[in-house]
Amino acid sequence: MSLISQARLIDLQKHADDRGHLVVVESNCGIPFDIKRLFYIYGTKPTAVRGQHANRKSEFLLVALSGSCSVKIDDGMHEEVFVLDNPGVGLYIPKMLWKEMFDFSPDCVLLSISNELYDSEEYIRDYESYREIMATSSL
Ligand code: TYD
Repeated sequence: MSLISQARLIDLQKHADDRGHLVVVESNCGIPFDIKRLFYIYGTKPTAVRGQHANRKSEFLLVALSGSCSVKIDDGMHEEVFVLDNPGVGLYIPKMLWKEMFDFSPDCVLLSISNELYDSEEYIRDYESYREIMATSSL
Protein backbone atom coordinates (compact mmCIF):
# COMPACT_ATOMS: atom_id res chain seq x y z
CA MET A 1 0.00 0.00 0.00
CA SER A 2 1.39 3.43 -0.87
CA LEU A 3 2.23 5.76 1.99
CA ILE A 4 -0.44 8.33 1.12
CA SER A 5 -3.16 5.68 0.85
CA GLN A 6 -2.44 4.65 4.44
CA ALA A 7 -3.87 8.00 5.56
CA ARG A 8 -7.56 7.52 6.16
CA LEU A 9 -10.63 8.65 8.05
CA ILE A 10 -11.46 6.36 10.96
CA ASP A 11 -14.91 6.09 12.51
CA LEU A 12 -14.25 6.22 16.23
CA GLN A 13 -15.99 4.12 18.85
CA LYS A 14 -19.17 6.02 19.78
CA HIS A 15 -21.62 5.55 22.60
CA ALA A 16 -24.75 7.65 22.26
CA ASP A 17 -27.73 7.72 24.56
CA ASP A 18 -30.38 10.21 25.53
CA ARG A 19 -27.74 12.22 27.43
CA GLY A 20 -25.60 12.77 24.34
CA HIS A 21 -22.43 11.27 22.87
CA LEU A 22 -19.24 9.70 24.23
CA VAL A 23 -16.32 8.84 21.94
CA VAL A 24 -13.49 6.47 22.94
CA VAL A 25 -9.96 6.27 21.49
CA GLU A 26 -7.73 3.49 22.87
CA SER A 27 -4.23 2.32 21.91
CA ASN A 28 -4.30 -0.16 19.04
CA CYS A 29 -8.07 -0.38 19.11
CA GLY A 30 -9.44 1.06 15.88
CA ILE A 31 -6.30 3.20 15.58
CA PRO A 32 -3.03 1.54 14.52
CA PHE A 33 -0.66 2.73 17.27
CA ASP A 34 0.11 2.99 20.99
CA ILE A 35 -0.85 6.40 22.38
CA LYS A 36 1.95 8.39 24.04
CA ARG A 37 0.96 12.05 23.63
CA LEU A 38 -1.93 14.31 22.87
CA PHE A 39 -2.12 18.01 22.21
CA TYR A 40 -4.76 20.32 20.85
CA ILE A 41 -4.97 23.64 19.10
CA TYR A 42 -7.74 26.20 19.33
CA GLY A 43 -8.31 29.89 18.69
CA THR A 44 -6.56 29.43 15.35
CA LYS A 45 -6.79 32.39 12.99
CA PRO A 46 -8.92 31.50 9.93
CA THR A 47 -6.02 32.48 7.65
CA ALA A 48 -3.40 30.50 9.60
CA VAL A 49 -1.72 27.42 8.18
CA ARG A 50 -0.35 25.00 10.80
CA GLY A 51 1.76 21.92 10.40
CA GLN A 52 3.82 22.35 7.24
CA HIS A 53 6.11 19.54 8.23
CA ALA A 54 6.65 15.79 8.11
CA ASN A 55 7.62 13.61 11.06
CA ARG A 56 10.17 10.82 10.82
CA LYS A 57 8.70 8.87 13.76
CA SER A 58 5.33 10.29 14.80
CA GLU A 59 2.03 9.02 13.54
CA PHE A 60 -1.12 10.99 14.30
CA LEU A 61 -4.83 10.77 14.70
CA LEU A 62 -6.43 14.20 14.22
CA VAL A 63 -9.96 14.87 15.46
CA ALA A 64 -11.89 18.14 15.17
CA LEU A 65 -13.52 18.09 18.61
CA SER A 66 -15.52 21.15 17.64
CA GLY A 67 -15.79 23.24 14.49
CA SER A 68 -13.93 22.29 11.36
CA CYS A 69 -10.65 22.52 9.49
CA SER A 70 -9.01 21.07 6.40
CA VAL A 71 -5.91 18.88 6.36
CA LYS A 72 -3.72 18.47 3.28
CA ILE A 73 -1.41 15.50 3.17
CA ASP A 74 1.31 15.15 0.58
CA ASP A 75 3.91 12.46 -0.19
CA GLY A 76 6.00 14.74 -2.40
CA MET A 77 4.19 13.56 -5.55
CA HIS A 78 0.49 13.40 -4.72
CA GLU A 79 -1.70 15.30 -2.33
CA GLU A 80 -5.09 14.80 -0.80
CA VAL A 81 -7.33 17.09 1.28
CA PHE A 82 -9.59 15.93 4.08
CA VAL A 83 -12.20 18.06 5.85
CA LEU A 84 -12.53 17.35 9.57
CA ASP A 85 -15.88 18.48 10.95
CA ASN A 86 -17.12 15.55 13.03
CA PRO A 87 -15.87 14.75 16.57
CA GLY A 88 -16.70 11.08 15.94
CA VAL A 89 -14.23 10.75 13.05
CA GLY A 90 -10.42 10.88 13.15
CA LEU A 91 -7.86 11.27 10.37
CA TYR A 92 -4.97 8.81 10.67
CA ILE A 93 -1.68 10.15 9.27
CA PRO A 94 1.31 7.78 9.12
CA LYS A 95 4.87 8.99 9.67
CA MET A 96 6.72 10.67 6.78
CA LEU A 97 3.72 12.36 5.17
CA TRP A 98 3.86 16.14 4.75
CA LYS A 99 0.83 17.76 6.39
CA GLU A 100 -0.79 21.18 6.52
CA MET A 101 -3.86 22.25 8.46
CA PHE A 102 -5.86 25.25 7.26
CA ASP A 103 -9.39 26.72 6.88
CA PHE A 104 -9.99 26.67 10.62
CA SER A 105 -13.45 27.71 11.78
CA PRO A 106 -13.32 30.14 14.75
CA ASP A 107 -14.66 27.42 17.08
CA CYS A 108 -12.27 24.68 15.89
CA VAL A 109 -10.58 22.60 18.58
CA LEU A 110 -8.25 20.19 16.80
CA LEU A 111 -7.01 17.26 18.88
CA SER A 112 -3.84 15.42 17.83
CA ILE A 113 -3.04 12.01 19.30
CA SER A 114 0.39 10.53 18.63
CA ASN A 115 2.50 7.42 19.17
CA GLU A 116 5.60 9.45 20.15
CA LEU A 117 6.64 12.06 22.70
CA TYR A 118 7.61 15.45 21.28
CA ASP A 119 11.05 15.53 19.70
CA SER A 120 11.89 18.55 17.53
CA GLU A 121 14.72 16.54 15.89
CA GLU A 122 12.28 14.22 14.12
CA TYR A 123 10.64 17.09 12.19
CA ILE A 124 11.34 17.84 8.53
CA ARG A 125 10.24 21.46 8.13
CA ASP A 126 11.60 22.31 4.68
CA TYR A 127 9.40 21.11 1.83
CA GLU A 128 12.18 20.85 -0.76
CA SER A 129 14.27 18.73 1.63
CA TYR A 130 11.22 16.57 2.24
CA ARG A 131 10.72 16.04 -1.51
CA GLU A 132 14.38 15.08 -1.91
CA ILE A 133 14.17 12.59 0.97
CA MET A 134 11.02 11.05 -0.50
CA ALA A 135 12.49 10.89 -4.01
CA THR A 136 15.35 8.73 -2.75
CA SER A 137 13.43 6.74 -0.14
CA SER A 138 12.00 3.29 -0.52
CA LEU A 139 8.84 4.14 1.47
P1 TYD B 1 4.42 23.57 15.86
O1 TYD B 1 5.18 22.34 15.46
O2 TYD B 1 4.73 24.83 15.14
O3 TYD B 1 2.85 23.29 15.75
P2 TYD B 1 1.97 22.87 14.45
O4 TYD B 1 2.54 21.61 13.92
O5 TYD B 1 0.56 22.68 14.96
O6 TYD B 1 2.01 23.99 13.46
O7 TYD B 1 4.61 23.76 17.42
C1 TYD B 1 4.39 25.01 18.07
C2 TYD B 1 5.25 25.07 19.34
O8 TYD B 1 4.82 24.09 20.28
C3 TYD B 1 6.71 24.82 19.07
O9 TYD B 1 7.45 25.73 19.89
C4 TYD B 1 6.95 23.41 19.58
C5 TYD B 1 5.91 23.25 20.66
N1 TYD B 1 5.42 21.87 20.85
C6 TYD B 1 5.77 21.17 21.97
O10 TYD B 1 6.53 21.66 22.85
N2 TYD B 1 5.29 19.90 22.14
C7 TYD B 1 4.47 19.33 21.23
O11 TYD B 1 4.03 18.15 21.42
C8 TYD B 1 4.12 20.06 20.03
C9 TYD B 1 3.24 19.47 18.97
C10 TYD B 1 4.62 21.34 19.89
